[in-house]
Amino acid sequence: MSTLLVTGGAGFIGSSFVRYAIEHTTHNIVVLDKLTYASDKASLDGLPSERVELVVGDISDASLVDELTAKADAVVHYAAETHNDNSLLDPSPFLETNLVGTFTLLEAARRHRTRFHHISTDEVYGDLELDDPAKFTAETPYNPSSPYSATKAGSDLLVRAWVRSFGLEATISNCSNNYGPRQHVEKFIPRQITNVIDRVRPRLYGKGENVRDWIHADDHSAAVLAILERGRTGETYLIGADGEKNNLEVIQTILREMGESADAYDHVKDRPGHDLRYAIDSSKLRDELGWTPQFTDFTAGLRDTITWYRENEQWWRGQKADAEAKYSASGH
Ligand code: NAD
Ligand code: DAU
Repeated sequence: MSTLLVTGGAGFIGSSFVRYAIEHTTHNIVVLDKLTYASDKASLDGLPSERVELVVGDISDASLVDELTAKADAVVHYAAETHNDNSLLDPSPFLETNLVGTFTLLEAARRHRTRFHHISTDEVYGDLELDDPAKFTAETPYNPSSPYSATKAGSDLLVRAWVRSFGLEATISNCSNNYGPRQHVEKFIPRQITNVIDRVRPRLYGKGENVRDWIHADDHSAAVLAILERGRTGETYLIGADGEKNNLEVIQTILREMGESADAYDHVKDRPGHDLRYAIDSSKLRDELGWTPQFTDFTAGLRDTITWYRENEQWWRGQKADAEAKYSASGH
């Protein structure tokens, strides 16, 4: 049994990881989370208090980070500003949290010689053409498009430098688009599900031909545990479940699953610099660490996610008006 310091554990994927790790391991978990607009303490409800502790604070707070890292056996670093559209409106918190925050954690891990796992995104690789059979691998050159993905790319490079220069025992994972319960309603899938619940037509950016490679958040968590337990220091593992779908297909599946006509959506202004296609080659993770995704039926996973949003309106209702106000101000 060991203690994991999980940053960003009150957000979507961080809280999924905390839940998954409590169920599948004997680790105790300390969550460090600033509780920004994107988080919800309720995402940690029902977990055993003797195994999970929430510390409210900022990953850029060097003395707090030092104190918590000193007591941890490993740091699993999820905390970030994560929404591309927000990064186009105001990049500054992305630089502070994703770069300075990661630097602060790395320095504490260096001082205390703590195992470090950095959670990152496939967006650091830029995008692929729609008709290109290629997928991202750990050798794909970095080519980020948005302020969000540029700061995540920078944070990955900081981790690599701390491994090479200081011998930090660190690994990195770059995962594709996650879906599942407790995702903030600003993101594509929960935005459309909650719009349909509210009798508002889903909003498709541009033509809807952009492709994302969807993975269930629980499959992401299982992969992170495999890397923590068996990953090689200094290595980068790409996480993906062969879930490529274009945005139009996703909206039409949501509409059908929610009993609406498949054409009951609206096209809205496209995202500036909108990445065309992401696709992950996860063979290194599968072959080296024996990970395989369990959620291979996207429609079934989406159906369960829709049911969760229908049954947990109290969780998301407080987020909805602010998220939609921000979108209508920017024409989305
Ligand atoms: P999220 O926006 O739902 O949650 C982020 C969490 O980090 C929130 O709880 C927030 O309060 C916390 N946080 C933000 N700034 C902080 C700070 N300065 N100090 C402490 N806590 C802070 O994000 P998510 O979608 O769950 O993503 C989690 C991680 O996974 C991110 O690093 C993201 O880049 C990465 N990722 C996300 C996806 C995806 O599809 N959502 C895919 C691949 C990788
Ligand atoms: O690929 C991993 C990344 O996936 C993560 O690193 C990010 O943190 C996460 O937010 C996500 O980024 P995307 O920009 O791909 O996700 P988003 O949910 O914002 O949008 C998914 C796609 O849907 C994208 O092509 C834009 C489109 N979209 C989005 C919204 C909110 C729409 O068509 N309509 C919408 O209303």
